Amino acid sequence: PLVTTTEMFQKAYEGGYAIGAFNVNNMEIVQGITEAAKEVSSPLILQVSAGARKYAKHGYLMKLVEAAVEDTGLPIALHLDHGEDFAICKACIDGGFTSVMIDGSKHSFADNIALTRQVVEYAHQHGVVVEGELGRLAGIEDDVNVSAEDSSYTDPNQVEEFVRATGVDSLAIAIGTSHGAYKFKPGTKPQLRFDILEEVSRRLPGFPIVLHGASSVVPHYVELINANGGQLKDAIGVPEDQLRQAAKMAVCKINIDSDLRLAMTAGVRQQLMADPAGFDPRGYLKVGRQYVKDLVKDKIVNVLGSDHKV
Ligand code: G3H
Ligand code: 13P
Ligand code: ZN
Ligand code: NA
Repeated sequence: PLVTTTEMFQKAYEGGYAIGAFNVNNMEIVQGITEAAKEVSSPLILQVSAGARKYAKHGYLMKLVEAAVEDTGLPIALHLDHGEDFAICKACIDGGFTSVMIDGSKHSFADNIALTRQVVEYAHQHGVVVEGELGRLAGIEDDVNVSAEDSSYTDPNQVEEFVRATGVDSLAIAIGTSHGAYKFKPGTKPQLRFDILEEVSRRLPGFPIVLHGASSVVPHYVELINANGGQLKDAIGVPEDQLRQAAKMAVCKINIDSDLRLAMTAGVRQQLMADPAGFDPRGYLKVGRQYVKDLVKDKIVNVLGSDHKV
């Protein structure tokens, strides 16, 4: 059966590593991720966005993930990524997910607390854990204006009250990451705010912290995409050494979606170019799935450190 993240996070915190939370949208992605984790004995979080539920439908994703649990025997948590209101969190709790995120970060502090509290009450009654968020992740279009940027970082002064008032099981914070493939301006040096992470974990000893927007935008896949007809310009992600550092600290969950998209796209593009006469979807989806598998194995072993923790 699916598990919650409680035990995973406790072990990760104590062991100085992080669990990868990988976004899933179809069978090939689920298989690529879970086959990789199986080979290196890693616990996993598979996460589903509102967009993924719309694309594949809740029931299909649920069955795919259940099949992966049966196939691999791994501890796997199924998590709602960026739930925006009570209704979607409730639908996922009622529909078999073991973890949900309520993302109230766009609301005022008081409204974020009230909404998160409501989800936590319902989730905990049903044995489901909840991730909240404080601070807003920098958007790719944000000004370089430092004070404007500063204002989107998590304020460590708010975290104790937020966790106490809501009862959340983990907390996503903003320390300079962002969603998508264009996280930093070309020519600038990407740098996460480890001082904020340290202050947050000093205020919340032993409490699991979550990092969103944590793809590295692996240059190898970007180059393969561009060499096979793609046009990705100035795609820049979070340096792997900084992710490794975060994983050693209080960060217990690292969210990865863009890197999966890039790997899948690189594989599919490469295969379609290599075999222009081919038209069996299994031909190119198989290569995409293999690229996802290679990527995830590398993440687990070389970045997250969650291998051989089952
Ligand atoms: O944080 C966002 C994830 O990358 C999910 O993206 O809403 O396009 O599925 P999506
Ligand atoms: P990336 O876009 O960096 O992969 O972030 C994914 C994420 O945070 C999903 O919630
Ligand atoms: Zn996210
Ligand atoms: Na950690």
